[in-house]
Amino acid sequence: MHALIFGGNGRIARAMTRLLLARAWTVTSIIRNPQQGPGILALGRGQPGDIHVLQYDLRDLKTAQDAETLFNRTGATCAVFAAGSFSNPYAIDRDAAKAAIAAATSLPSVTKFLMISFPASRRKPAPWWNSRDIADYTSERAAYPDIGDAKIQADEYLVAMANPRRARGGGGQHAHAHAHGPPFQAISLRPTWLTTGRATGRVSIGETRALGQVSIEDVAAVAVEMLGREDVSGWFDLVAGDVEIQEAVDSVVQGAVDCIEGEDVEAIYKLAD
Ligand SMILES: NC(=O)c1ccc[n+]([C@@H]2O[C@H](COP(=O)([O-])OP(=O)(O)OC[C@H]3O[C@@H](n4cnc5c(N)ncnc54)[C@H](OP(=O)(O)O)[C@@H]3O)[C@@H](O)[C@H]2O)c1
Ligand SMILES: *[C@@H]1O[C@H](CO)[C@@H](O)[C@H](O)[C@H]1NC(C)=O
Repeated sequence: MHALIFGGNGRIARAMTRLLLARAWTVTSIIRNPQQGPGILALGRGQPGDIHVLQYDLRDLKTAQDAETLFNRTGATCAVFAAGSFSNPYAIDRDAAKAAIAAATSLPSVTKFLMISFPASRRKPAPWWNSRDIADYTSERAAYPDIGDAKIQADEYLVAMANPRRARGGGGQHAHAHAHGPPFQAISLRPTWLTTGRATGRVSIGETRALGQVSIEDVAAVAVEMLGREDVSGWFDLVAGDVEIQEAVDSVVQGAVDCIEGEDVEAIYKLAD
């Protein structure tokens, strides 16, 4: 597999890059500053996978065609959107993400899309939250209104665009109705506040509290575990916890957990182009 990582110099992105390369994936890391190149390429040293960098300012990623060009040039089969901008969330977290989503869901060669979001990216309090969680969600939404708004629109757009793609089927030479390609995986991984602590290898995924902490290394490990499988799709809230990562991912898949529960999914489907 070949992952194209938007926001490749980010903290989660760099941790994911190392783990993907260790699993012998190819990674193309999109960065905006060429000075970041050597540091990214160094992540591939001694690893079985291949690493490439591609310089591109995500403010220029405006249309599906812009993003298609990146997928076609690289031959990537998987997209990871790990970029984010406090100063410009509508241009990056929403518009660049939507361009990447539109391209990934329209190209039969791309079969996975993983977005890094956060648990407050939802329009209604989650059904499993208590009153404390709801208060935390409300104050987080109020503290970061634009980022929240941008992220939720990108999360919803991924769900909307993946829905007809799933019906059409996926890759290979049979990319028409009832195709035999792998199913399209649309994953919104939603870690709470990030910490720089070491990997613990243990987390809590799914119907978690609204607020907490989780280490960047553990987030990356969960993301890579999800991308390593063919059967993970949906919204997954993520906090520090005590379940071993592989087991935690397996358990949300077996339990058909999807943190989109409680949102108006039919209305979200209508947001597809
Ligand atoms: N901080 C938290 O506690 C938290 C919690 C949950 C979710 N999240 C979300 O998780 C995601 C990843 O988090 P993180 O801490 O890994 O993020 P990060 O380290 O801030 O990385 C974000 C990346 O986006 C890149 N970027 C921003 N504008 C760009 C542009 N115009 N062109 C190209 N690249 C651009 C940045 O590039 P440069 O390196 O060049 O600046 C940076 O590498 C973010 O979307 C964030 O909102 C964060
Ligand atoms: C990318 O490749 C696909 C499939 O070959 C093609 O249909 C599409 O036009 C290409 N897009 C761009 C922008 O080159």
